[in-house]
Amino acid sequence: MELGGILVVYVLIFLLTLLTYVFSRRDKREPLKSAKLPPGSMGWPYIGETLQLFSQDPSVFFATKQKKYGEIFKTHILGCPCAMLASPEAARFVLVTQAHLFKPTYPKSKERLIGPSALFFHQGDYHMRLRKLVQGSLSLDAIRNLVADIEAITATALDTWAGGRVINTFHEMKKISFEVGILSIFGHLEARYTDELKKNYSILDKGYNSFPTNIPGTAYKKALLARKRLSTILGAIICERKEKRLLQKDLLGSLLNSKDEKGEILTDEQIADNIIGVLFAAQDTTASVMTWILKYIHDDPKLLEAVKAEQNAIRESNDGGSQPLTWNQTRNMPITCKVVLESLRMASIISFTYREAVADVEYKGYLIPKGWKVLPLFRNIHHSPEFFVDPQKFDPTRYEVAPKPYTLMPFGSGVHACPGNELAKLEMLIMTHHLVTKFRWEVVGSQSGIQYGPFPVPVNGLPARFWIESSS
Ligand code: HEM
Repeated sequence: MELGGILVVYVLIFLLTLLTYVFSRRDKREPLKSAKLPPGSMGWPYIGETLQLFSQDPSVFFATKQKKYGEIFKTHILGCPCAMLASPEAARFVLVTQAHLFKPTYPKSKERLIGPSALFFHQGDYHMRLRKLVQGSLSLDAIRNLVADIEAITATALDTWAGGRVINTFHEMKKISFEVGILSIFGHLEARYTDELKKNYSILDKGYNSFPTNIPGTAYKKALLARKRLSTILGAIICERKEKRLLQKDLLGSLLNSKDEKGEILTDEQIADNIIGVLFAAQDTTASVMTWILKYIHDDPKLLEAVKAEQNAIRESNDGGSQPLTWNQTRNMPITCKVVLESLRMASIISFTYREAVADVEYKGYLIPKGWKVLPLFRNIHHSPEFFVDPQKFDPTRYEVAPKPYTLMPFGSGVHACPGNELAKLEMLIMTHHLVTKFRWEVVGSQSGIQYGPFPVPVNGLPARFWIESSS
């Protein structure tokens, strides 16, 4: 072959190698370019579909889209492109198997109120360290010692409801869940501290969902100031604990005693942020479900009779209620337990959660671009006829057969799943025991409708009247 021919062959080989290299690298660098965005509509520029979402029941908005587009669809809400996930498989992908690709995401204004070091804003080592501490203090072994105190808190609160005046059930339930939150964090806390925490936390609570602004006098600004005072109060409690060198096993004790692999302890700010975080995670959630339980059993007299029979038998075995409930008794309330589960499903008070994709991610051929919000839609999964027969019917007997994996996730799933789930269920069982064994009650006014604040609660907090059963 002459020189020109050899050159052409070399050039061809070189080009071929170069092209192979470029294409193979392109494949490695950009494997997702071939994937398409999920189906769906992004609405108007910037405002997206925010107005459509907030002008109707959110679950109807999502259910309509799910019907049209399937288990994954895109939308644009509050300035953010979002991928919505409406199947157990997709929720598991984001929360469990590929959780490292999706980080928690909250508005900065909310982070400022709770405290930026609260575990649920984090991922990775810091999150795992805090999570272990919180999980330990809320484990079955830890909460079994709280039964008597939770019972005392509940019985005292319920006794104040009697007499037939109208009470706001949700507000009253919030008092119980707050006290139980305090108990699980501090054990027995001096009343002066509890009162100060209660007063300031309720200001924070009121400002949490208000418009974030620094203008004096606004609910948000008041909440920020209350948050500062909460830090001071918590600082004083922490200081006292340190001085007394008390080695309690409650959450505060675990936070104070924790050292990382370098021997570093947590700062007082990190401890305070996590205490406020746990109180925040514990209060409205549990109170909202307890309000729904009261409504669901009120609305179904036959079910109420069955729950009453189960709980009265326990009361009888406790000498007509003069002996306290035991841990074993709370673990053996099969009917009430199913009522709790069904209330968690029906009410689905955490309708969805948020994550943000930290990289381009592919799910079943669809691209979820880096920076998009990703929302597993718990409520839509819980209310899907594919997983729950006649999903709008309150039917505790459906749990005679265990639900399929990842179809019932009232406490979430994976690395951020609720560490307080057993405490919340215990609280609900104890509340139900006292409610049905001692009281009769009547719901006042409109009996249907949901109010979002932001958790779904029966309209107006379920106004109701209560009477002690024996004196009625
Ligand atoms: C019925 C009551 C409750 C419900 C329905 C509920 C639901 C949830 C859900 C769905 C999550 C996961 C959120 C996500 O993945 O983004 C969560 C997280 C959390 N919950 Fe609960 N919760 C309840 C009660 C409680 C209680 C009583 C406590 C503590 C005493 C608590 C403490 C927490 C904490 C600290 C997290 C964050 C966990 C983490 O990020 O690793 N919750 N909860």
